[in-house]
Amino acid sequence: MKELNTYIEKNKDRFINELLDFLKIPSVSADSKYKSDVERASQWVKKALLQAGADTVEIFPTKLHPIVYGEKIVDKKLPTILAYGHYDVQPPDPLNLWNSPPFEPVIKDGKIYARGSCDDKGQVYMHIKALEMLLKTGKLPCNVKFLIEGEEEVGSASLGDFVKKNKKKLEADVILISDTDIIDNKIPSITVGLRGIAGIEIEVTGPNRDLHSGVYGGGVANPITVLCEMIASLKDKKGHITIPGFYKDVKVLSAKERKELNKAPFKLNAYKKDLGITDITGEKGYTTLERTSTRPTVELNGIWGGYQGEGSKTIIPSKAFAKVTMRLVPDQEPEKMLELFAKHFKKIAPPYVSVKVTLGHGGDPVLLDTSSAGYLAASKAMHESFSKKPIPTRSGGSIPIVALFKKELRTDSVLMGFGLNSDNIHSPNEHYGIFNYLKGIETIALFHHHFATLSK
Ligand code: BES
Ligand code: MN
Ligand code: MN
Repeated sequence: MKELNTYIEKNKDRFINELLDFLKIPSVSADSKYKSDVERASQWVKKALLQAGADTVEIFPTKLHPIVYGEKIVDKKLPTILAYGHYDVQPPDPLNLWNSPPFEPVIKDGKIYARGSCDDKGQVYMHIKALEMLLKTGKLPCNVKFLIEGEEEVGSASLGDFVKKNKKKLEADVILISDTDIIDNKIPSITVGLRGIAGIEIEVTGPNRDLHSGVYGGGVANPITVLCEMIASLKDKKGHITIPGFYKDVKVLSAKERKELNKAPFKLNAYKKDLGITDITGEKGYTTLERTSTRPTVELNGIWGGYQGEGSKTIIPSKAFAKVTMRLVPDQEPEKMLELFAKHFKKIAPPYVSVKVTLGHGGDPVLLDTSSAGYLAASKAMHESFSKKPIPTRSGGSIPIVALFKKELRTDSVLMGFGLNSDNIHSPNEHYGIFNYLKGIETIALFHHHFATLSK
């Protein structure tokens, strides 16, 4: 639609500047020292929604971070789109690897650099600007609801309760989410699968205090070494996870499904070059695309213990720690997998240490239907805005609430994200292309149009 492009062209500088303002708020959900900033970000979202033309916006406090809910109801008889996203971000560390401070956004080579620029503030703001644009051009063809949370990056626990208690409020015909990526700016795609997740924290204790490593070394177990051995044993030489029963609930893909999935463009050399690695690895018998989307894995997210300051300190530390997450695929269940992990990890602990396993957050894997009205509307919208039909892809990341939306609200989600996997989400120098940002606003507006038409 021509009006949309004209509106974007006229307003793009303001669209960008408003986003930069949003990105300045360090809404890190994992770290309590940012609690008031997270709260400030929720207020910012409320104000932005009202300015864009929402009728009502409410902020719901939770045990942790607030949930923002807003709506624009045009006519109860029209279809309703619920846009979900998150205004919280991952911790910005390690700070010294950023070329510019994470919460002082800068534009360089057509990209906005800041924590949250792509994941997910930039993508959330596309939805808010799409609403503004549809209202200002008189083209809003349906009702819209917004559900923007502040705990996605820590597992969405509060939102789970909120959804269960507010089913009526959240009633919609489709849930539209921009928190994923496309293959390339020239190869649009729509995500139809997400892996589930289950997090664990581990504490290994050896001697009751740090010991002089000369006086005791060689005679007492070192908890760091033991933890490393235990972790390393979780994968065998073929890249299989060794936890008994780990693959029991994994739905096996047919040869046809695998063939279809591997049609998605993937260039190994470019992949290696982008990551600065000389080779890849992973489970034998599967392609990189499969390893990172349709196969489950166990990843070590952090490991620490002992002396880390300047110079040397010769000790056998008393304790060692690790943070681990499993990525799960249909039909693995987080709770069940956490139990399996804990049982196995305690079993392989040698007698000379004690192991404490704390089970954390979880989220179910997701598989979406390419024949739903939502998918078709997204496909049409992307086809129009990118001049190319999007490819359905399965992603390896997780958005814990999506499975719960289906279970509790019985509503299908559409994962129409606009990031690139080179955007450094969760990493230093996260960025989001201005092309992607503006294309997202355009495509979301087109989605509204196509979804409303298809639902007639
Ligand atoms: N937006 C991501 C998930 C994502 C990224 C999906 C790229 C597909 C492509 C989301 O914010 C995220 O990072 N989720 C966490 C969930 C966890 C902390 C509970 C994840 O996947 O690690
Ligand atoms: Mn995200
Ligand atoms: Mn994230």
